Amino acid sequence: MTIGIDQLGLYTPNYFVDMVKLAQARGDEPDKYTIGIGQDQQAVPPSSQDVVTMGANAANQFMTAEMADKIGLIVLGTETGIDASKAGSLYIQQLLGLNSRSRAIEIKEACYGATAGLMLARDFIASHPGQTALVIASDIARYGLKSSGEVTQGAGAVAMLVTENPRIMTIEPESSYFSEQVMDFWRPVYTDNAIAFGKYSTEQYIHFFETTWADYQAQMGRTLADFKALTFHLPYTKMGLKALRTALPAADDQKQAELLALYQDSIQYSRRIGNIYTGSLYLGLVSLLDLNQTLQAGDRIGLFSYGSGAVGEFFAGELVPGFRSQLHTSDNQAMLDQRVELSVADYERVYSDKVPYAAEDYRSNQEFFAGDFVLTGVVNQQRQYEARIHG
Ligand code: CAA
Repeated sequence: MTIGIDQLGLYTPNYFVDMVKLAQARGDEPDKYTIGIGQDQQAVPPSSQDVVTMGANAANQFMTAEMADKIGLIVLGTETGIDASKAGSLYIQQLLGLNSRSRAIEIKEACYGATAGLMLARDFIASHPGQTALVIASDIARYGLKSSGEVTQGAGAVAMLVTENPRIMTIEPESSYFSEQVMDFWRPVYTDNAIAFGKYSTEQYIHFFETTWADYQAQMGRTLADFKALTFHLPYTKMGLKALRTALPAADDQKQAELLALYQDSIQYSRRIGNIYTGSLYLGLVSLLDLNQTLQAGDRIGLFSYGSGAVGEFFAGELVPGFRSQLHTSDNQAMLDQRVELSVADYERVYSDKVPYAAEDYRSNQEFFAGDFVLTGVVNQQRQYEARIHG
């Protein structure tokens, strides 16, 4: 029996801001944003989209009543959760009508949370044959208007149905993980904006990649030749490239060129959406599977997950026969192509309208209201969610 990803769903909000226009508005060189950092567009979440609605929207891309009944574990990996106590997965369970005979939890460790959820799901299925798990990575990356991290913001969610005998990709049980207390990026509970030592966090990311990749090779006796592609957590698309370049010299020229070409396919969605924290690695996987036509069943894909603070893990999966028929490539591309571009002034307006840190009622801005599942507001300190797809 194998265990792995049976279904992959993606969601990103209906609005974006262009990075050339943002650079111009900030007095920066556009090439710094598009080449130096590697971002073209950035998703802008309206106040009607939070990690719950984005997660429900992502899972809804594939969820059927039959699937919903078999789920025994629902994990939301997020670092921008909406409550310090209650798991956001409980709202998602309700919105999607998922099985109540299940464990519904939330996992936090910066951008690593969904990987922790995936590993938990794999172990859960190994010990509960016949059950499945829903792992949702959902986040809103905010650093603040006019901050150096602004160009690396973004929003979105990836949902993964984890099952026995998966129809997209197995997740191999062997992996290398490493953790250490590092102050490179964090977010105190009183603010929506992350605090980051950008250059230091970049160094830590590379250090954690080199450590886990070296350990993985020693443990498994594998080299780059054993991988068709490597995918990375992508806080911005240049970041994964910096890590990949540390590994490439060990491969011959042909392999280096192949890994670089597949890396390009893995970053295309991130270039248009930005950082989605816990979901960024899996956004890269969706992009690679949707856009690369050379991948075949049996190809091994390496995945490097990094969560500031910090935890890193390198693991791998193998594509299974028929994987392409399970993808939602045209839906994903239509979702990206049909988004509405906001001017920088409108992006700033949407950015500044958010659920307040106060015990007061709130109504989501109706001017920017989109999504099948939406947050309509807050009443009596309780979030009000609505499904707009069954009417
Ligand atoms: N043309 C082409 N390239 C240009 C350019 C131009 N006109 N001007 C500058 N560049 C290049 C620079 O040479 C540099 O390239 P290298 O990194 O390859 O040297 C790149 O553009 C960025 O320039 P700076 O270093 O001067 O940019 P910055 O000081 O504004 O900082 C940043 C960039 C550190 C990524 C910042 O955006 C930031 O702090 N981001 C948030 C934190 C972050 O994303 N950290 C990543 C790892 S942490 C993590 O993984 C967790 C997570 O998700 C946050």
